[in-house]
Amino acid sequence: MITNTELEYKGNLFPGKISTYEKNVDTLIFKADNDIFLQVKILRDGVLRFRYTSHQDISNDFSYAITKYHSEGYNLLEIDEDDEKYTITTEKLICEIHKADMRKSIYDAEDKTLLSEDELGFHWEESYEFGGNVVKMSKVSQEGESFYGLGDKPVHLNLKGKRFENWVTDSYAYSKDTDPIYKTIPFYVGLHKTKAYGIFFDNTFRSFFDFSNERRNVTSFWAQGGEMNYYFIYGPDMADVVADYTDLTGKPHHLPPLWALGYHQCKWSYYPESKVKEITNKFRELQIPCDAIYLDIDYMEGFRCFTWNKEYFPDPKRMVKELEEDGFKTVVIIDPGIKIDPENDVFQEALEKDYFCKRADGPYMKGKVWPGECYFPDFTKPEVRDWWAGLYKELIEDIGVRGVWNDMNEPAVMEVPNKTFPNDVRHDYDGNPCSHRKAHNIYGMQMARATYHGLKKFIYPKRPFVITRAAYSGTQRYTSSWTGDNVANWEHLWIANIQAQRMCMSGFSFIGSDIGGFAEQPNGELYARWIQLGVFHPFCRTHSSGDHGDQEPWAFDEGITDVVRKFIEIRYQLLPYLYSTFWKYANEGIPMLKSLVMIDQADPQTHYRTDEFVVGDHILVCPVIEPNAKGRRMYVPRGRWYNFWDDAVVLGGKEQWVDADLDFMPIFIREGAIIPKYPVQQYVGEKEITELVLDVYYKEGKEMSMVYEDANDGFEYGNGVYSERNFSFTGSDKEIIIQQYKAGKYITPYETFKINLHGLPFKISKLVIDNEEILFKDVKVGDDNSIIVKKTFDVLHVIGKK
Ligand code: GLC
Repeated sequence: MITNTELEYKGNLFPGKISTYEKNVDTLIFKADNDIFLQVKILRDGVLRFRYTSHQDISNDFSYAITKYHSEGYNLLEIDEDDEKYTITTEKLICEIHKADMRKSIYDAEDKTLLSEDELGFHWEESYEFGGNVVKMSKVSQEGESFYGLGDKPVHLNLKGKRFENWVTDSYAYSKDTDPIYKTIPFYVGLHKTKAYGIFFDNTFRSFFDFSNERRNVTSFWAQGGEMNYYFIYGPDMADVVADYTDLTGKPHHLPPLWALGYHQCKWSYYPESKVKEITNKFRELQIPCDAIYLDIDYMEGFRCFTWNKEYFPDPKRMVKELEEDGFKTVVIIDPGIKIDPENDVFQEALEKDYFCKRADGPYMKGKVWPGECYFPDFTKPEVRDWWAGLYKELIEDIGVRGVWNDMNEPAVMEVPNKTFPNDVRHDYDGNPCSHRKAHNIYGMQMARATYHGLKKFIYPKRPFVITRAAYSGTQRYTSSWTGDNVANWEHLWIANIQAQRMCMSGFSFIGSDIGGFAEQPNGELYARWIQLGVFHPFCRTHSSGDHGDQEPWAFDEGITDVVRKFIEIRYQLLPYLYSTFWKYANEGIPMLKSLVMIDQADPQTHYRTDEFVVGDHILVCPVIEPNAKGRRMYVPRGRWYNFWDDAVVLGGKEQWVDADLDFMPIFIREGAIIPKYPVQQYVGEKEITELVLDVYYKEGKEMSMVYEDANDGFEYGNGVYSERNFSFTGSDKEIIIQQYKAGKYITPYETFKINLHGLPFKISKLVIDNEEILFKDVKVGDDNSIIVKKTFDVLHVIGKK
């Protein structure tokens, strides 16, 4: 009999007693007597990183998630020691580390609220199955604590009581509670005693989170390999937690071109060219705005990446140009699998240069996808990413394609039970060679990254537009995303709503669902209700699988077409609002959609709400997600809101019934808001904007609004050529004051604002602009309280008589 005494250690192992500690500027290293090291790095007053290792050498520190542009720097760092513990104090946090067992407790520095407390804390289990350790962290679930985040999980927004797995997975026709699906975003927000903090577990191995599921009072997370390496991010506001997580893992490198915020039409697949034209012509004929048309896999020759089926598309360059002249941008799909075909240049080159992934013992990683047997580039190798980026030259530079859609990049493999590569496949991992166990979750991200760099290079001076299905934390820097192969049913409308909100609170705002559902077919009512939701999502695209019938706005009946048009038109009117919201996201990391809990976390009523959300700062929407509804009950958050349709004032803080026949949905505007609007256009740039509409909603008190504009494409905005108008609204019973503060060098094409004053409690008697009284005829005061003023004003007073 062979006895291996070490095997007896399987089971939970724990750090011993802390024997020494060292400080190196912003990093503290604690050593336990059983050679476990805890490194605590103070990134900011509210952001701490905890890293546990079993070796002193912590130099090998590599992450695909963390951006080199993240902010660091703190105002205060004090370290104290007594018999029992070390205490680290920053301006926002106090972190105690117990000498006996390395367990930690983290408090709000100001009022000493306990925010997070290790239960068993860090521990590990030796794993014979995988080699190495399963690394674990367990924390005490606090009284009344709620949990949010984790990317694309199709479950109730509040994760409490549930357990999740993170392993990027192709999930055709997933349903409510399917886990895991396409994305791995190991970041969650905890909320208790009205304070929110976040935890980002930056570990790419298969990982798990348990939110008081196994044990009611314990929250834990663990991974099947790698390090226990996590960031603690303190708010206390939830929006700030998400913004700081987004700062750490990266905001989008660029704004999207404005057209990308328009409406997109997609199907698997529009071909041949005449079909594509039939679709785009119909949009123009029916006057339904649309900016992008997609080509799914059938545009290729036998699904070989970077080829065209010449029978279906004899002259892609001409077609793309003609579409462009009609306002349509062409987006094409590119998958990672390269067909094993010695005749194919892309295949040959990758083979010669040794760019394909290999199994541990040498042969290529072979798997079946759409083109049949394929090999797969190792996107975790910088040289391969450069090569891949270069492959886009023809598509983008020569043919004029404006966007690329990366799909199947989990990576998906057909006809194998685990739907992906076997674990033994090797990856370069940017010079840190490893197996697929570690690289799986970031494979799709690295593909999208390479695609993004290709587009950036060849589309310049325009902005790149990429869309990906698989993602890990940080992927939002390069690309937009959609929620994968959903299903045309009412439950999926609920899921689409949840997923978009959840992705936004997970740092990834440029997100949307396949409107109407990918698998199966919606009826007109479901499609209309889905469009109503979709026009408020950052990414707005109808997509469906061709086998299930047509899914264009006119595929149902005329009544439905009218509803769809009406809502897409609302989106086009709101483009400056959506663009400003994107600017705030790209600049400050503020999520574009905010779930109610993020709007008012101090109100416990919001903690379990799922359907209502706020777009940007001021527009509250709530989709109707049941058939045959004439309206719905919804929770309007505290404050005063205006019904978008009739300006009726609603007092929030309670659940209420809201009418919404099929051509309406509940939309409310926060009082004091200034909402910018463009005229309806069939596509971005169709019309020159000759006037900016500002819908101003009266409030007794103060409110800030912002309008961002630029050339709608290109990079000049990065050199300050943009226009950011911050408006401060102040209202009292006899007067309103609007102050404008303008930043940036961009000269907007219009000269005037049309200001529509909603809910004014007085009749206008006098207008004063920059200290000069203005005659009514000069500002064209309308009966509907609209005035036309020069865009250059600093202060506008609207004075009333009671
Ligand atoms: C996958 C994608 C889907 C696409 C199809 C064919 O199922 O998720 O969007 O249409 O592949 O390319």
